[in-house]
Amino acid sequence: MQTKIYTNYETLSAAVAQIMFDTIQQKPNAVICLASGHTPLLPCQLFVQKANDEHLHISETTFIGLDEWVAVPPENEGSCHYFLYNTIFNPLILQAGQIHVFNSMAEDLNAECETMDAVIEHNGGIDLMIVGIGMNGHIGFNEPGVAFNNLSHVIELDKTTIEVGQKYFPAATTLSRGITIGLQHLMNAKQVLLIANGEKKASIIKKTIEEEVSNQIPATIMQTHSNGMIMIDAAAASQLSKNYLYEV
Ligand code: PGA
Repeated sequence: MQTKIYTNYETLSAAVAQIMFDTIQQKPNAVICLASGHTPLLPCQLFVQKANDEHLHISETTFIGLDEWVAVPPENEGSCHYFLYNTIFNPLILQAGQIHVFNSMAEDLNAECETMDAVIEHNGGIDLMIVGIGMNGHIGFNEPGVAFNNLSHVIELDKTTIEVGQKYFPAATTLSRGITIGLQHLMNAKQVLLIANGEKKASIIKKTIEEEVSNQIPATIMQTHSNGMIMIDAAAASQLSKNYLYEV
């Protein structure tokens, strides 16, 4: 795992967008797994702008949504579906067959998980996975205590996730379970970027990079990924013991 520090959210986002662009340019039929949330917003916007400006050949690329709140409908602004479609899938004008997201309204959520696992396998695995980090160290909805070898699964949400998650919703929303790509998929992905910005992430980023690998802080699994990169801004890096060189 590498750690890269950028002066601010803008330069960090531009670097993430460039990696997305390069991945698809080098492999047009790449499989890209994307998180929703506040952190990936600017990276996704910059990627869309660059892909459209430079006419990136994107019609063979497969996009996968990392996770979803169970029982939150796609038209709800706080859903991951809403974020991904509005921020990236619709502006890129993708075909429906290129997009795979969990239907968290489905009656049979285990079948949703099996379908997602099959999609990933059928398409030759995830080439690039871009994830954020929760205040409790979660990745997607891989909450503290999760098994590292899980594929897609449904999970009871951690108290912190339920509280912090309210920030995405226009009104107070009942959140209890999540459906998510598992950490075995992350370990199998050819490249993983964990991105974080802002002072509020400084403490969990320090733990993720400097503490022992443990499922109590799921993001520590990044330490064991041979092609994993933690990309953060100066504020999120402010509690790290070691001094890192700034990228830009
Ligand atoms: P955020 O979410 O990007 O909105 O901070 C991160 C996460 O919980 O994964």
